[in-house]
Amino acid sequence: MSNVPPTTTNSGAPVASDAHSQTVGADGPIVLHDHYLVEKLAQFNRERVPERVVHAKGGGAFGTFTTTEDVSRYTRAALFQPGVTTEVLQRFSTVAGEQGSPDTWRDPRGFALKFYTTEGNYDLVGNNTPVFFIRDGIKFPDFIHSQKRLPGSHLRDNDMQWDFWSLSPESAHQVTWLMGDRGIPASWRHMDGFGSHTYQWINAEGERFWVKYHFITDQGIKNFSNDEAAQLAGSDADVHIRDLYEAIEGGDFPSWTLSVQVMPYEDAKSYRFNPFDLTKVWPHADYPLIKVGTLELNRNPENYFAEIEQATFAPSNFVPGIAASPDKMLLARIFSYADAHRYRVGTNHAQLPVNAPHAAPVHSYSQDGAMRTGFNSASTPVYAPNSVGGPAAHADVAAESRGWESDGDLVRTAATLHAEDDDFGQAGTLYRDVFDDAARARFLETITGHVGGVKNEAIRERAIQYWTNVDASLGSALRANLAGVAPIETGTPATATVPAV
Ligand code: HEM
Repeated sequence: MSNVPPTTTNSGAPVASDAHSQTVGADGPIVLHDHYLVEKLAQFNRERVPERVVHAKGGGAFGTFTTTEDVSRYTRAALFQPGVTTEVLQRFSTVAGEQGSPDTWRDPRGFALKFYTTEGNYDLVGNNTPVFFIRDGIKFPDFIHSQKRLPGSHLRDNDMQWDFWSLSPESAHQVTWLMGDRGIPASWRHMDGFGSHTYQWINAEGERFWVKYHFITDQGIKNFSNDEAAQLAGSDADVHIRDLYEAIEGGDFPSWTLSVQVMPYEDAKSYRFNPFDLTKVWPHADYPLIKVGTLELNRNPENYFAEIEQATFAPSNFVPGIAASPDKMLLARIFSYADAHRYRVGTNHAQLPVNAPHAAPVHSYSQDGAMRTGFNSASTPVYAPNSVGGPAAHADVAAESRGWESDGDLVRTAATLHAEDDDFGQAGTLYRDVFDDAARARFLETITGHVGGVKNEAIRERAIQYWTNVDASLGSALRANLAGVAPIETGTPATATVPAV
């Protein structure tokens, strides 16, 4: 008798062979009632769920978040009370590439966190950039289509990218970020993370604040050059997954320090630009960083599919003391993610161990649906209101969810203008005042290569004008670099770096 356990069917019955199908004689046909063979092949055909429509390539780990400071004057959220440690799951990703795409393509990186708090799961689904390409979610599908593949050739395409960007001037700040040195992090451990949107915090007295989250890497910032990234895309396409996994396996746990910028509630109305515009950062001189605590990743998943691929992060997962803001992108995302999860993983995705609350009970009236495993006791009523002691919404939660004042006709328009709202100002500041000479030179080289891949003359011209609007001297330098140069054949992907001319 072997001392390893017997292979079984999915129903637990021992199987006769790991290697041989059941046939009529040694060379005869396979019989249909070899149900174990059928089960194996059928299960295999169903091993994949759809990849995420964006952020498909990624990896992640578990860890903890510890609140080391007292920020209770801003939020009553249990996880942000002094000394509280909360289990977290974090997933990092690229945006446009498919599941097998290289980790080193130039792209924003996802920075998604799930905090398993005692008040339910809180998800903060951010990026490694503090801003984004657009400011209204209605443009998101168009934006993503322009960054993915042409329907006919199935190739990524610089013309599409620059057509969209140059017709969407609000993208300038994020594109400047993306084409700069931080557009290709050397590892997930060596980049910062941002909540990006403005969120609302509410303290125990019901006082409201606007906040922005900054996770500053304790490992320091490190980036790859265009050449290093291009080489690694061929030689080690999973370099970021490997880096995180090996660091944690080796006991070298990466950490980030969380600070927030806090804006008093009333400031938002008269601030010099719209503080809910996701294409803008708040200058630290106006709203300095206030330290909150430390995020540490210290445990690799045991199973990638169960714990990372099936993980579902949703900006709609708030906890008491944290809420949305009027940022139109955030409001669109609050619908979008839970909907994606119902489609991608299934109606009952929140019951999977990785997605279910770990530190809070669920008292929900939802029931049934495909793959349901959890249920209330038979005596729990299946409707609310009821008079037999079933769960009931608490008034204090309603009192604090009052959101913000809003009144007006139903319209489709940009948010109310503030004095200094514009599309190019902060992009120009980033280029002129944050980048040094060497970074500016690399930046020019990168956009020269990128715009150099545009074949359509009108789009090329618009792209040059776009950079001229960011900075006049940058625009002239780009025009000079591209003068008389035929469009460069970039191959795929368009966001990969192409040589500067
Ligand atoms: C993933 C939609 C903007 C960060 C996703 C997914 C969808 C989506 C449908 C796939 C979810 C899944 O299948 O699990 C949108 C829409 C946006 C938007 C409609 C604009 C209205 C943003 C912004 C950020 C962001 C502004 C960052 C600040 C992420 C991240 C993921 C993701 C990090 C991957 C989450 C994970 O690791 O599972 N987005 N997105 N997205 N998005 Fe967005």
